[in-house]
Amino acid sequence: MRFRVSSMKVEASAGSQNMPPLLKVENLVKCYARRSLVGRGEELLALNGVSFTVFPGTTLAVVGESGSGKSTLASCLACLESPTAGNIWFEGKDIVKVEERVRRQLRPQIQLIFQDPASSLNPRWSVLEILLEPLILRRKFTREEMKQCASSLLERVGLSPDFVERPPTELSGGQRQRLAIARALALQPKLLILDEALSALDCSVQAQIANLLRELQSSLGMTYLFITHDLAMAVYLADEIAVMSRGRIVELGSAEQILDQPQHETTRQLLRALPRMTRALPAPEQ
Ligand SMILES: Nc1ncnc2c1ncn2[C@@H]1O[C@H](COP(=O)(O)OP(=O)(O)OP(=O)(O)O)[C@@H](O)[C@H]1O
Ligand SMILES: [Mg+2]
Repeated sequence: MRFRVSSMKVEASAGSQNMPPLLKVENLVKCYARRSLVGRGEELLALNGVSFTVFPGTTLAVVGESGSGKSTLASCLACLESPTAGNIWFEGKDIVKVEERVRRQLRPQIQLIFQDPASSLNPRWSVLEILLEPLILRRKFTREEMKQCASSLLERVGLSPDFVERPPTELSGGQRQRLAIARALALQPKLLILDEALSALDCSVQAQIANLLRELQSSLGMTYLFITHDLAMAVYLADEIAVMSRGRIVELGSAEQILDQPQHETTRQLLRALPRMTRALPAPEQ
């Protein structure tokens, strides 16, 4: 069966494949210790030998069933969890093995955005304070420069300057996600990991944020690792798609390969749900 997705990402960044990878993950393993009801220790392999490469300015989507290890992968890449084994090469440096001092310098370059930005945006701060915090951490700017930078970040993500004095609790879900993206951009990351970042939003708002991500990729050359249950959105945003099942990547290829020649049952299951979901997809911006 041949699926047609008119809004497939077409401007695959072929040129970027001649550049060194931004991210190279080799045989990543994450093992969680679990205590069973009878008190015996059990081990759960959340990641079981995951390998892939992401080139600058491209998007790798990671799709897969619940519990397949997607968020564990995101946490290891963002240095929130230590992998049990394997390597994560970021711009040629292994962030698993480097000394803590070097890891601290690399960490801001990999930003993670979650499904629910409310959990990471301080409700007692105003939008401006939320944006000033990462700018203060960069220790480069005067207060006036930081304010200018904050307002240009708001403009970049399509938020009105009228929001600066408001707390994030007074923003809609889509506006909060735009704010989370603006705050991540304030640290000038090279890699943005989006873990189900669109999943809680209405279809039309998902489409707007997806288009914002594409616009930021063409204007700033952003690199994304886009984690989702939604294969249609993965096709819309990604150059390559990795399908995960039980801690492994069971299939990895271009969106076209995944759609036209799915090799694994997990991919076929995701594809069976696709025609229903494509109705919600935004039209591509030319
Ligand atoms: N801190 C933890 N301690 C023990 N087990 C964990 C921990 N975090 C995740 N797991 C387990 O690791 C496996 C992978 O979980 P993970 O959250 O990475 O899946 P996921 O693909 O992100 O799922 P979902 O699509 O539901 O978000 C699951 O079996 C989960 O129960
Ligand atoms: Mg998850």
